[in-house]
Amino acid sequence: MIILTLESTCDETAAAVVTDQLEVLSSVVASQDKLHERFHGVVPEIAARAHVERILPVIDEAMLKSGKKLEELDAIAVANTPGLAGSLLVGLVAAKTLCVALNKPLVAINHLYAHIYACRIASGEEIFPCIGLIVSGGHSSLYHCHDPIQFDYLGGTIDDAAGEAFDKVASMLGLPYPGGPAVSKVALKGNPMAHRFPRSFLKDKDRLDFSFSGLKTAVRYEIAGPGRPDFENVKLSEQQIADIAASFQEAVVDCLVGKGQLAVKRTGVRRLCVGGGVAANRNLRERLEKAANDDSFQLHIAPISLCTDNAVMGAIAIERLKAGLIENLELDVVPGLIRQ
Ligand code: KG4
Ligand code: ZN
Repeated sequence: MIILTLESTCDETAAAVVTDQLEVLSSVVASQDKLHERFHGVVPEIAARAHVERILPVIDEAMLKSGKKLEELDAIAVANTPGLAGSLLVGLVAAKTLCVALNKPLVAINHLYAHIYACRIASGEEIFPCIGLIVSGGHSSLYHCHDPIQFDYLGGTIDDAAGEAFDKVASMLGLPYPGGPAVSKVALKGNPMAHRFPRSFLKDKDRLDFSFSGLKTAVRYEIAGPGRPDFENVKLSEQQIADIAASFQEAVVDCLVGKGQLAVKRTGVRRLCVGGGVAANRNLRERLEKAANDDSFQLHIAPISLCTDNAVMGAIAIERLKAGLIENLELDVVPGLIRQ
């Protein structure tokens, strides 16, 4: 079986051709980072328009690189949830159009489940059942993943996602977008103990939730002082920037690792799979490895190349196709998180 997978949930336009043996025949990702850079975050309208311009060339390139013809595809799969409404629509319309024109089945992809499936593709091993921790620009969620189709929501952020916090803190510190790589780079020279930033819910053993908006505010006050909305007259030294970046990163990592450990403990599922853009963070990866060692559970972290948005992880659609889960043309986008 060969399928084409499409990804346009946020600001990457991506297509991949994958087989039921999880062979990747091609993978193309067109990033929009340059378009959103000056806003220090994704602007939904700009993202949607850029997807419209890129989706067909990206699909063409993915098909060409795969060496396969559209007629040879067994299905077309598309991420229809969660994400930005306008961005999701572009991928969905492209996928439906191909399905109608080629008379092929349409398969839906949950983008968050796909982030976890990146671990399955990379490891070549069975990963289910597992606890899934998705940490990205838009989401920070924990799931009990029974199999590739049945995921139960355990908890997640009640406000901002971890990646969003990295992006906004980078902006406050005068670092480039996307903020995650920039913050983690300067954090290497900083002292993670320099500032004691809040770790919301970390001590609450009844909750598997996150909250990062208070942490963002704490960083803001540390830089500018309470009640001072602008940073224009604030000049931080390189060391001060590094110390704030390192202390902020430490707080985020403490929360993500702590709740990952708690989810493993609470469910008794002794395998943790981690995906999403923030999973590219070196500090987080090291701390997760230590936690897995200390608590004796199995750990899979998506390889860096499959952490940020891509269409290869959409190979999870093969599992739905095998289970006969085909969509009709009424399939719609679901921008919000489905807590099921
Ligand atoms: O999964 P992703 O590509 O997009 C969403 O689905 O949101 O994640 C993008 C996020 C951005 O917020 C970016 O700053 C963050 O992942 N990120 C990182 C790192 N690399 C990317 N955060 C922390 N450390 C990194 N090394
Ligand atoms: Zn994502």
